[in-house]
Amino acid sequence: MRIVFLGPPGAGKGTQAETISKEEKIPHISSGNLLREAVEAGTETGVKARYYIEKGLLVPDQIVVDIIKDRILKNDCKRGFILDGFPRTLSQARVLDEMLKNLGSRLDLVLYFAVSKESVVLRLSGRRICTNCGANYHTTYVPPSIEGICNKCGGRLNHRADDKPETVLERLRVYSEQTEDVVEYYKKSGILKEIQSDVSIEIITKTVLDFIKCILPDRDKYNMRVI
Ligand code: AP5
Repeated sequence: MRIVFLGPPGAGKGTQAETISKEEKIPHISSGNLLREAVEAGTETGVKARYYIEKGLLVPDQIVVDIIKDRILKNDCKRGFILDGFPRTLSQARVLDEMLKNLGSRLDLVLYFAVSKESVVLRLSGRRICTNCGANYHTTYVPPSIEGICNKCGGRLNHRADDKPETVLERLRVYSEQTEDVVEYYKKSGILKEIQSDVSIEIITKTVLDFIKCILPDRDKYNMRVI
């Protein structure tokens, strides 16, 4: 089962991908997390990516495509995966189609998380991430038991640098300029389903699982050739 989670910054893609990945036992592949890991590690890719991430701009296609290609070819993706934050441009969407075609495969489903700008701003201004294990919190909607401390590992919680208001506005601008075309691309291909996401995390999770069960009832039979 190969799924793409599409939607503006703060739509809740990462939150849902975490849960669905556990439920369906397929990896959650977040292009944002992979890029941030490269930044943290100080690799050549990370040094290049940092410049764009901090400004709220998209990292050049070739850098992201190479990272995603490597990840999809890993063994744990044989039964499928959830792509979160990729593709974000038409060119990335076309490369992904080509990549899967070469593996004798294709995307099964694209879930588009539609959310208002007001929700995005509220969600991103309150988002906190564990600096140790990466767990995701929200000061109001998903608060930790002790303020500023991760429930899972006791790590310190941080506000992501690109979640400051001016960068969020830039990310939203970039999204409407470059990623809305990707929504249209998948609408035309007939595999996109839209989920109204100005509701609670639990309601969205139930809707996602219903879509998956309804559209992919035989998902355990799906397999991909991994070179
Ligand atoms: P990336 O990390 O992918 O960020 P994003 O797409 O902007 O998405 P976010 O992680 O901000 O939001 P989300 O939808 O996952 O929301 P979340 O679940 O965390 O990308 C960052 C940067 O990397 C980009 O700007 C770019 O520079 C680069 N990049 C990444 N991919 C790229 C690509 N393919 N090409 C080029 N460049 C790329 O939820 C947000 C908050 O809301 C959390 O606190 C959560 O607890 C809370 N929340 C979630 N759902 C709900 C709900 N239903 N109700 C209330 N609160 C909720």
